[in-house]
Amino acid sequence: MIIVGAGALGLETLAILLDNGYNDEIVFFDDDKQKTQQKIFDKFDIITDKNEQINYLHKNPYFIVSIGHPRLRSKKYNLIIQWGGIPVNVISKKAHVFPFLQPFEGCIIEPSAGISHGVKLGTSCAIHINCTIGHQVQLGNFVNIGPGANVVGPCNIGSYSYISVGAVVHPHVTIGNNAFIGSNVVVNRDVADFETFLG
Ligand SMILES: CC(C)(COP(=O)(O)OP(=O)(O)OC[C@H]1O[C@@H](n2cnc3c(N)ncnc32)[C@H](O)[C@@H]1OP(=O)(O)O)[C@@H](O)C(=O)NCCC(=O)NCCS
Repeated sequence: MIIVGAGALGLETLAILLDNGYNDEIVFFDDDKQKTQQKIFDKFDIITDKNEQINYLHKNPYFIVSIGHPRLRSKKYNLIIQWGGIPVNVISKKAHVFPFLQPFEGCIIEPSAGISHGVKLGTSCAIHINCTIGHQVQLGNFVNIGPGANVVGPCNIGSYSYISVGAVVHPHVTIGNNAFIGSNVVVNRDVADFETFLG
């Protein structure tokens, strides 16, 4: 398994995999050349060279992109797909995911996240610790739901949108694409594409 991004979200993804009992090989991809030769926790390699990354993918194509910024996450996700990667979900066994979700791929679901029935997650969403996503919520691709945020269903959140820590999204609200919702903000009206909403 490849974790793309050796930053904070990458380490959280690693912790989830280990906690879930994952025991196949795990390596990190990161473009920061200063991380060459470093290992995470003296154990997990970081591959920074592009050709080495491509070669590694031929051997083991399964990957998750663990980069917080939605646009950067999508850029990297699409590149790794072009290189032959196969996206997987990383879902903490401590998350509370109700059945009847529509199929999704490349998503991270952290511990204590609660996801209700009828939810649609787009590709490569990052669902952080302690957040809740209510029934019939529809997320676009590369959406971030921050720690402790509450998205009350039904509502729609467009692709590349970022819901910060502790925000509350009310039912029947539509948030456009590339929108940014600030921390602890209550969203009680529609938010346009590219809008920053601080309440
Ligand atoms: C929106 C955000 C990025 C702004 O940060 P910033 O650029 O440093 O902005 P500042 O703190 O300088 O604040 C600028 C103005 O916006 C206001 N503001 C900033 N964040 C706000 C918020 N969450 N709610 C209400 N007002 C906010 C400030 O009060 C300030 O207003 P003023 O100009 O009238 O004094 C930041 O507050 C935020 O919400 N970050 C989210 C982090 C997060 O959730 N990370 C998730 C990790 S998984």
